[in-house]
Amino acid sequence: MKILGISGSLRKGSFNTALLRAAAELAPEGVEFTAATIHGVPLYDADVEADEGIPAKVRELKDLTAAADGLILFTPEYNNSLPGVFKNAIDWMSRPSDDIARVFGGKPVAILGASPGNFGTILSQNAWLPVLRTLGTNPWFGGRLMVSRAGGVFDADGRIVDEKVKHNLTAFLQGFAAFADGTRGG
Ligand SMILES: Cc1cc2nc3c(=O)[nH]c(=O)nc-3n(C[C@H](O)[C@H](O)[C@H](O)COP(=O)(O)O)c2cc1C
Repeated sequence: MKILGISGSLRKGSFNTALLRAAAELAPEGVEFTAATIHGVPLYDADVEADEGIPAKVRELKDLTAAADGLILFTPEYNNSLPGVFKNAIDWMSRPSDDIARVFGGKPVAILGASPGNFGTILSQNAWLPVLRTLGTNPWFGGRLMVSRAGGVFDADGRIVDEKVKHNLTAFLQGFAAFADGTRGG
């Protein structure tokens, strides 16, 4: 089965992208995990959409999502909410609207995130919920992962050095993969 993870940070040293890379390594057996970022997604502009159609990078993310049995959003938290750059990418991916069902309809989706603060993106994760509902996804609520104080969780190369976080991420991925697998072919 295929799981797609998208990091919502553009930063080279991003904790969320580091978490995404770790997830690719820790994904359960039988899961083909694809790691994607939002690099190359332009700002949404309805005039660009009307004149030029959907940008190539957005088409790529849409097709990866459509082909995946499950989608995981690795979200930073900005100002107690979701990051505009990440929302912008999902907004583009929701165009044209008559393609939403193909890309997101009934799609198992999980959210996790990392932050240097004490609350590990809990408010950002909550802020994604109306978006997931609007897109007709099938959000997974069977597990939660808020990676707080992320500065101490990763080494300089972005590898997880906190064994508890590694364990929790592994369990999260297993739980979500089982959920996504259970929805297949139904
Ligand atoms: C505009 C802005 C607002 C932020 N607001 C929050 C916040 O509300 N809560 C939080 O935990 N961290 C906040 N941060 C800190 C981010 O969690 C931190 O920059 C984090 O490293 C971003 O994720 P990344 O490492 O994947 O890029 C904010 C950062 C920026 C740039």
